[in-house]
This record gives sequence, C-alpha cells and structure tokens, in this order.
Amino acid sequence: MRIDVVTLFPEMFQSFLDGSLLGTAQKAGLLDIRLSNIRDFAVGTHRQVDDRPYGGGPGMLLMPGPVVECVESLLTKKDCSETAVPSTSIAMLTPSGQPLTQQILEEFATRRRIILLCGRYEGFDQRICDTLKPELISVGNYVLSGGEVAAMVIIDAVARLIPGVLGDSLSAVDDSFSGTDRLIEGPQYTRPREFRGLQVPEVLLSGDHQRIADWRKMQAVTATQKQTYYCQDN
Ligand code: ADE
Repeated sequence: MRIDVVTLFPEMFQSFLDGSLLGTAQKAGLLDIRLSNIRDFAVGTHRQVDDRPYGGGPGMLLMPGPVVECVESLLTKKDCSETAVPSTSIAMLTPSGQPLTQQILEEFATRRRIILLCGRYEGFDQRICDTLKPELISVGNYVLSGGEVAAMVIIDAVARLIPGVLGDSLSAVDDSFSGTDRLIEGPQYTRPREFRGLQVPEVLLSGDHQRIADWRKMQAVTATQKQTYYCQDN
C-alpha cells in the first residue's frame, strides 16, 4: 500500500516513520510512505501558502493553489479512474470531519493508495474540498494545531491492518474494535501470578479454554458498556 502525506511540516514524520513497526513494514515493501511539502507548490518570492479569510475573522487559511497542485502532482490516471470501488482515497484531516473509527480504517486498508491532507493555521480554503472531494476525517472532538498528528494516527492504525505488517497476524483480529461485534478488549495479565497482593484471575490459570473464552467475552462486554457510557457523557 502507498500512503502520501501532504503537509507543510514533513520533518515531523521522520522519526515516526523510521520507528520499528512502520520502518520494518517499509523495508519489507509492504508500505510505501511518501511525504510531499505543500510549500514546494507555492509561487512568488515569499512562497506563500496561507492568507487571511475573506470577510474577516481570526487566523490564516491554506490557499487552494499550492494544496491542489501538490495533490494533483501525485495523482496518476489510475487514481482518477471512476470505478465502483475507488483504489485511492483522499482524506483531509480536520476537526469538522467524520469521527475516525476502526471501520473507516479497515476500509482505508483495502485501498491501493491513500493521500492524507494535513492542514495548519485555521483550516483549508473551501475550494480545496470542492476540487479534490476528499473524505473529511476527525480523530476526536478536540482541536490539534494541525493535521500531522492526526495523519500519524491513521498511518499507524492502517499499517496494523495490512497483512504481514504485524508479526502475529492474529493480533490485529483480536484488537479492540475489531471483528463483527467490535468489542473493546478486557483486562489481560502476564507474569508474575501475584503483584503487590493483586492476583491473576483464577480462571486464566485453569487451562479450561472454554471457560477462559467465556470470561474474556464477558470482560469485553463490560469494558464496551463502560466506554459507551463515557461516550454518552461527553
Ligand atoms: N486538525 C486539527 N484538529 C484535528 C482533529 N481533531 N482531527 C483531525 N485533524 C485535525
């Protein structure tokens, strides 16, 4: 899979991309992640990429020219062909987007290619959306200083879903939010059997696979109900 990141701050990604899981996946040829600098497509002596909003208001907006031209320079005929299932997704990271879910990530993982647009300043000129028609994605109901950290969230979570990226292919299936019931994983334990008076639940030591599976399912249901309650609260 190829992932293109369109950003004003490509240097923010360097150590993240070289890190263990992503670094290994790239070396193994499972992932091809490329960084494009929006400023390379700016014109004029000042290479301006942002400007004040028409009608007034605070902050600066990313201008349409550099962003659209940067993305267009990445698109091939294959990316633009109109098929029922597109091979390329363009995602714009913005707090006003659709909240990111495991289901959206699973869909991204089926693409040949994804292009992630990172905003800075107060946001994007609307004509960037009108021209590129990206999917708008938010990583949560809070405002980051830019889309870069949000793009890293997507890259990390999508990479785990690409066959061969995780050492043990079962671990992505077992992850929280995965599978048909999309339950959160319950508590897990490793050695020692006792830590500061806290014991590993007896059932996990029983060797009874059915009992262990039933216990884990029940714990997952409880953890999911708790999280649903937190979400309603906010
Ligand atoms: N850019 C700024 N805040 C963001 C958020 N919450 N999600 C995605 N992109 C963002």
